[in-house]
Amino acid sequence: MADQKVSIQNIGTSIPVDNVQALAASVADSGAVPPRYIRPEANAYPVAQDGDGELPVIDFARLLDLRFSQEESAKLHYACAEWGFFQLLNHQVPEEVIEQMKADIMEFFKLPLEEKKAFAQGPGGLQGYGQAFVMSEEQKLDWADVFFVITRPVHLREMRFWPTRPPTFRNTLSCYSAELKRVASTLMEVIAEALGIAPDRLLDIFDDMPQGVRINYYPPCPEADQVLGLSPHTDGGGGLTLLLQINDVQGLQIKNNGKWFPVRPLPGALVVNIGDILEILSNGKLNSIEHRAVINTEKERLSVATFLFPSEDAVIGPLPELVTKGCEEKYKTMSYRDFLKTFYARKLDGRSLLESLRL
Ligand code: OGA
Ligand code: NI
Repeated sequence: MADQKVSIQNIGTSIPVDNVQALAASVADSGAVPPRYIRPEANAYPVAQDGDGELPVIDFARLLDLRFSQEESAKLHYACAEWGFFQLLNHQVPEEVIEQMKADIMEFFKLPLEEKKAFAQGPGGLQGYGQAFVMSEEQKLDWADVFFVITRPVHLREMRFWPTRPPTFRNTLSCYSAELKRVASTLMEVIAEALGIAPDRLLDIFDDMPQGVRINYYPPCPEADQVLGLSPHTDGGGGLTLLLQINDVQGLQIKNNGKWFPVRPLPGALVVNIGDILEILSNGKLNSIEHRAVINTEKERLSVATFLFPSEDAVIGPLPELVTKGCEEKYKTMSYRDFLKTFYARKLDGRSLLESLRL
């Protein structure tokens, strides 16, 4: 993309790969998983057992209630600094919106392959139905299909990638994306206050809350412990991610104390995590934690990750007010455009991008 201007709806490309939902159906008959999906590293670290800690739970309603907000925002800060992840309850996204999202997404993935392919990624971009971060023909592949679109700002939407079946899909996604903008804006304000910076400091950088939605479809696999649904990664392009689990199958695991910690979403919860951009802006006070998705032998799993992006012209580096004596600048500063170019030109590889930006 030599002279093409990088922007969030034009962030890179990925080598086309086979449709995994179709592949999984044929593997279910033949039993053989192609070698490109076999991941010896899948079992390199132990999986945490019950009793190995508990993922923080934050009550959104308490953040908004003056009687409890101070206590709850201290909890939120601890969660973002120590775990990089938390469950968010009482987020006030109407239940109808959540239920309609779940129904429409399940229905979309049930469509015949040809119908889904009407919304396939084009050769020049990452929006639509396909995959991301495939950079070479040798690279190992994730056991999943992905659907990604930019949802906000509204004028950046490219409607040709938005499914028309089920007929409610577009409207549902639009409502959901507006609700998540509201939730994320409040979180950004509280996170800023808890960092001791001006409450609108992050909102200015994430001006108008640009947003992308990635729907992950993880088919079952007879050799589930040999494959990975989503390679270990940190959420590179964004500042915050809000994840909605669509069906009741466990799969998300986060790195904690050298182990993979399985996240089991509470009923009605959104799982929220800090992305690379907030780790950098906070000068490392908040943590962008490595995570991955594993596969179930019998059941498909679906999830929706909503990423909040900084504004395209933002400059990303440690905020000067968080660079203090004893807490020197820890990361390079660069334009968000350069950051995006770097992120989407690499395969997913744990925290390697963040580490490469360390001073
Ligand atoms: C992601 C992600 C986890 C999941 O899409 O970035 O980490 O459980 N998803 O699907
Ligand atoms: Ni992620």
